[in-house]
Amino acid sequence: MTENPIRAVTYNDTVVRQFSLMAVVWGVVGMLVGLIIAAQLAWPELNLGIPWLSYGRLRPLHTNAVIFAFGGCALFATSYYVVQRTCHTGLFLPKLASFTFWGWQAVIVAAAISLPMGYTTGKEYAELEWPIDILITVVWVSYAIVFFGTVGTRKVRHIYVANWFYGGFILAVALLHVVNSAEVPAGWMKSYSAYAGVQDAMVQWWYGHNAVGFFLTAGFLGMMYYFIPKQAERPVYSYRLSIVHFWALIFTYMWAGPHHLHYTALPDWTQSLGMVFSLILLAPSWGGMINGIMTLSGAWHKLRDDPVLRFLIVSLSFYGMSTFEGPMMSIKTVNSLSHYTDWTIGHVHSGALGWVGLVSMGSLYFLIPRLFGQKKMYSTKAIELHFWVATIGIVLYIAAMWIAGVMQGLMWRAINPDGTLTYTFVEAVKATYPFYVVRVVGGLLYLSGMLIMAWNTWMTVARGHAVPVAIPVPQAA
Ligand code: HEM
Ligand code: HEM
Repeated sequence: MTENPIRAVTYNDTVVRQFSLMAVVWGVVGMLVGLIIAAQLAWPELNLGIPWLSYGRLRPLHTNAVIFAFGGCALFATSYYVVQRTCHTGLFLPKLASFTFWGWQAVIVAAAISLPMGYTTGKEYAELEWPIDILITVVWVSYAIVFFGTVGTRKVRHIYVANWFYGGFILAVALLHVVNSAEVPAGWMKSYSAYAGVQDAMVQWWYGHNAVGFFLTAGFLGMMYYFIPKQAERPVYSYRLSIVHFWALIFTYMWAGPHHLHYTALPDWTQSLGMVFSLILLAPSWGGMINGIMTLSGAWHKLRDDPVLRFLIVSLSFYGMSTFEGPMMSIKTVNSLSHYTDWTIGHVHSGALGWVGLVSMGSLYFLIPRLFGQKKMYSTKAIELHFWVATIGIVLYIAAMWIAGVMQGLMWRAINPDGTLTYTFVEAVKATYPFYVVRVVGGLLYLSGMLIMAWNTWMTVARGHAVPVAIPVPQAA
């Protein structure tokens, strides 16, 4: 009998460390800009009359910074960490992985300069002009090569479910970006979309909704399937359900985009199709949420004294809430009330702050000490404080927006017996003012939590050191 030779595999964690730290940095920056625009909505004179600080320019800066810089860096970091551990091998083409880090930071810096200068394609979540779009494509293709190359050179037969979610996210985002960013350049920082009229709108919201489905959901579900079992020290509740969850989710998301275009020039049947697929989407979304939460089965007591686990589990509760609310808002009659109002903003942030934010923070709290040779973060009390400050901040933010949104919708549609409008538009704006102030307070709390995290990260990194991690891997005989 021949024995399998044993070889040590060293994980490439340099790039994981870089992306993790930048996720914290960009989190602070993106949320600070969010707070500034929230304050501008309550007190518009805060733009100081400077075009660079005007709401219209800072708003896309906020969305790009939180989604692509904060969320993006967290996704790169965790996917590179998870794929190596679950495939028992180092990253494929480490130099290319390093290029994805520097390339992605270059995209972020280019966005941070060009958006305040007013350069924009005008397409939401795809505002960056064509030269930056090309850089994004190059970085993303490199990311795909590194990720799938690592999966392809794995030392174990099975591909763990987290990698399916990360892989689905990487492929879908490549497709969405390339199709939606097809444009005709008309100068260095000016272009026109390759599509026109309602087709342009349809392509844009196919992209927009799947940016939510794949960038803000599938990748983060990858995080959920690795870090919750790890932190809870329990296997995934149902592995079979996780596979059904994956296929059902990616199939259904692709068709739901038209719910962003209800009552527009889009053919009526397309709108109804979008609505039906959005309603169906509730099932896989909740299947995933239940699978994550039930992983704690028999270990519920851990929630009491482990704040990192609390971040991860509470994120799933917000995921469940926003994926219940979304299908409801996609019903055309409900959408006729919610569309254009702050209800949408409440929905967005229950998903963004509650789900995307908390799951990223929980995963980073797991990762950072391990990446710097520490057993845990510098201060567990600070993680605890962060959790409560953030949670109270989210509740204030989303409750204020829900009330404001429903109120706006009802005020806009109220009519007198003679058919004239009961309220002028400005009356609705005035009635919204107190809720905008509450949102500023909620946002300030959420940002404070992020600053606590930045301090805790700094202290952990300052005491730690980068340790190379090697594991013995049996080679095929
Ligand atoms: C301190 C935390 C935050 C504050 C104060 C904040 C504030 C805001 C404000 C004021 C807007 C504009 C709303 C409007 O136009 O009426 C906005 C939009 C948006 N924010 Fe945030 N935000 C925060 C964190 C985040 C995070 C962490 C994410 C994502 C991970 C996020 C994603 C978005 C998105 C996608 C929009 C656009 C929504 C839409 O167009 O419907 N935000 N945010
Ligand atoms: C089953 C899942 C979901 C469905 C069916 C859904 C449905 C919807 C609907 C109907 C709207 C309003 C469209 C409009 O009136 O313009 C909307 C907006 C939005 N949702 Fe969701 N949602 C879901 C989950 C989520 C999650 C988990 C997030 C965040 C992580 C999210 C982020 C957003 C964003 C950013 C917008 C605003 C888009 C914009 O107008 O800029 N959604 N969603």
